[in-house]
Amino acid sequence: MSNVVIVGAQWGDEGKGKVVDIYTEFANDVVRYQGGNNAGHTLVVGNEKTVLHLIPSGILHEGKRCIIGNGVVLDPKVFIEEIEGLKKKGYLKDDSQLVVDGNVNIIMPYHKAIDIARESSSSQRKIGTTGRGIGPTYEDKVGRRGIRFNDLIRPEMLARKVKEVLPEKNFFLEKFLGGTPLDEAAIIEEYTAYGQKLEKYLGAASKILNKSIEEGHNILFEGAQGALLDIDHGTYPYVTSSSTTSGGACTGTGVGPRFLHEVIGISKAYVTRVGEGPFPTELHDEMGEALRKAGQEFGATTGRPRRCGWFDAVALREAVRTNGMTGLAITKMDVLNDLETIKICTAYSYRGELLEDFPQDFEILKECKPVYEELEGWQTDIAGATSFETLPVKAQEYLKKLEAVTGCPAVLISIGPRRDETIQVKNPFV
Ligand code: GDP
Ligand code: IMO
Ligand code: MG
Repeated sequence: MSNVVIVGAQWGDEGKGKVVDIYTEFANDVVRYQGGNNAGHTLVVGNEKTVLHLIPSGILHEGKRCIIGNGVVLDPKVFIEEIEGLKKKGYLKDDSQLVVDGNVNIIMPYHKAIDIARESSSSQRKIGTTGRGIGPTYEDKVGRRGIRFNDLIRPEMLARKVKEVLPEKNFFLEKFLGGTPLDEAAIIEEYTAYGQKLEKYLGAASKILNKSIEEGHNILFEGAQGALLDIDHGTYPYVTSSSTTSGGACTGTGVGPRFLHEVIGISKAYVTRVGEGPFPTELHDEMGEALRKAGQEFGATTGRPRRCGWFDAVALREAVRTNGMTGLAITKMDVLNDLETIKICTAYSYRGELLEDFPQDFEILKECKPVYEELEGWQTDIAGATSFETLPVKAQEYLKKLEAVTGCPAVLISIGPRRDETIQVKNPFV
């Protein structure tokens, strides 16, 4: 038996959804443990593309239970749309396949309004958030004034809680951010209807998962965002508001750390980032443009162009450590097919000093310049490769170099967006 945690090893959008979809075959339960619909996880099966924001990426597999753990923040409107979209395509035939933990915090209209108003305010620092209300919802969770799924499904409780918090939110929205106050009765009516619609999905993640483990089943934990967007370990303040690293899998589900056996970090063969914040290997030239074009680097949630750059081993070593990673899944190798030479950043230069470790101090990080090693590209189409050995020798050398500079073995190699464009080197479940 093996329970496996999937985490983003960079700044998100590494291909976590694709890998979770592939690994679902070996698991009984797939559980999201943090984040919300700031995530956009893309699955491509045959010619059909599905983008999931909240529902775990195991949902295309009939009979696999998909759980939204307590650490997630949930926008009920988006969740209902996602359920309906999946049903229309013929998935989620059995509602018992989907479970929402009662302690999940709900994203309310004032959270979205505050997020958007802050981001457009000239006096506030712009983070480049997804505008989905993620930060304000986590603030209320920690401030102990959140509305949880258990409240959403009880009309009286919901009304009481909205009445309690809304005056403060409206005061802040109107008087400080210069926004429009929200209508109490309209919120209560709309959200009561969502609660009634979603009640049937209520469950207790910790109890369900621990029972499943007791019965000898495998659990797959699906992280959202990436290690460098972690609220504690990321490039603060340019981060998201949850624990994206593997520790979040415990607190966000109620499963103890002794039951986590493998931590697989998903990493592109290069780097992308959406939103503001430091990115030492970012390319502002035609090479960055070429990567964006070849990799179709536009956000799955907001459609924003992703910033692109060379593989950053310094940042990745940080992610290996903060997650306790046991393996890497390297995605988007095919995007590098045409390149004559490929660069890997192995250290940073800071005011003439060579740094091999990712600096904890933001003031240092923002001045770091990448130090590169250059490798020859394979300049071959790698579609059709079925094993590590059938990849071009120079692609093998690139992968071996990534393993050496990160200190982590590559257990999966992705050579295209489709489920079948994948090389599994070592299965973490066996
Ligand atoms: P996630 O948020 O980590 O699940 O990643 P996203 O879905 O936001 O972004 C990854 C994008 O890359 C999606 O459009 C995937 O379909 C695509 N993708 C995943 N793996 C590969 C790959 O190996 N090659 C190519 N070309 N595209 C890939
Ligand atoms: P997946 O799961 C990439 C980024 C935003 C912004 C910062 C904070 O698809 O990899 P937030 O709305 O969370 O308060 O925004 O985090 N961000 C992501 N970037 N992939 C994601 O998710 C992201 N979720 C949030 O762009 O910089
Ligand atoms: Mg994404």
